[in-house]
Amino acid sequence: MTDLLLLPGDGIGPEVTAQVRRVAEALTPDLKLEERLFGGASYDAFGTPLADETLAAAKAARAVLMGAVGGPKWAGVPRDKRPEAGLLNLRAGMEVFANLRPALCFGPLADASSLKRELVEGLDFMIVRELTGGIYFGEPRFIEELPGGGKRAVDTQVYTTAEIERVARVAFELARGRRNKVASAEKSNVMDSGLLWREVVTDLHKREYADVELTHILADNAAMQIVKAPKQFDVLLTDNLFGDILSDAAAQLTGSLGMLPSAALGVAGKPGLYEPIHGSAPDIAGQGVANPLAAILSFEMALRWSLDRAAEADRLYAAVERALEKGARTRDLGGALTTVQMGDAVLAEL
Ligand code: NAI
Ligand code: MG
Repeated sequence: MTDLLLLPGDGIGPEVTAQVRRVAEALTPDLKLEERLFGGASYDAFGTPLADETLAAAKAARAVLMGAVGGPKWAGVPRDKRPEAGLLNLRAGMEVFANLRPALCFGPLADASSLKRELVEGLDFMIVRELTGGIYFGEPRFIEELPGGGKRAVDTQVYTTAEIERVARVAFELARGRRNKVASAEKSNVMDSGLLWREVVTDLHKREYADVELTHILADNAAMQIVKAPKQFDVLLTDNLFGDILSDAAAQLTGSLGMLPSAALGVAGKPGLYEPIHGSAPDIAGQGVANPLAAILSFEMALRWSLDRAAEADRLYAAVERALEKGARTRDLGGALTTVQMGDAVLAEL
């Protein structure tokens, strides 16, 4: 059985995942790795961004780590064959409904944030975003011509009790291993789906997680609090749309896209999907200057959440922290290290 399926993808994807492979070979040499083409690279080879065998391999592995997909090369490809379509199909096929996006600020990088050092130094909270429901998937959705001229566009926000409950459960479980606090963000003041969200989270909390501190926060206020006093959060639970926006705002707190990992989890026992939050960065692809830490920290999450290697995950996290403390910086962090040299710096600390 494959432990970790690597899907390097496009652009800087293969450059950063190559560093994950080096780290894995040093830290966990017994893990069985496998690698497959994905995204544009797969389209070029097989005419599809996600081959059936690749999806089957992803579902059969214990964890999947991807680099990034997409780029201008595939701009003219039909929508359903685009690299990004492969990613949506991979997420749907793996049924990963809970997206974990840490907002992390390593002390040595606090000055790279858009906020004051004291607001972000040591920042460590986790956004849990619902990933497979809500307004990005709800029906009906369409654009129609209006008889009197102009058009009308409709998207639909839909959530069921079951969808809310399973993602809320992930948030509560996570909080228990952290600082034991969940803030649940919705717009129950103006949306029925927000009312249901609050009701389901409150019920689940009462039934099974009364030991966790739960607060409810309106999503717009959450956006304000993220930039005003982000350290108040431990786990921030929210839906697909608000989570998309709030997690991008949180990402900016930490300085560089090149630093942030993510995980997407499904039901317990099924493989998780791990990926840096950045894209394929066509502007720097092929130059060997991309920051591999987001990908390496995604591997750290895979060790923790899918591979039962919490001790190795701790070691890797500490190694990244020490490398940064000693001044290791790629270009996005204001330094001059190459991708491989940043990999070297982490390996040296391991
Ligand atoms: P991007 O994240 O690829 O790049 C945005 C900016 O951040 C660029 O200036 C890039 O050089 C820089 N950057 C990103 N990652 C970096 C790293 N590891 N080290 C140093 N600098 C880094 O986003 P963009 O430009 O909007 O999208 C480029 C392509 O990536 C598009 O085709 C897009 O669809 C795709 N994309 C794919 C994602 C995925 O595979 N999950 C996510 C986001 C975008
Ligand atoms: Mg987004």
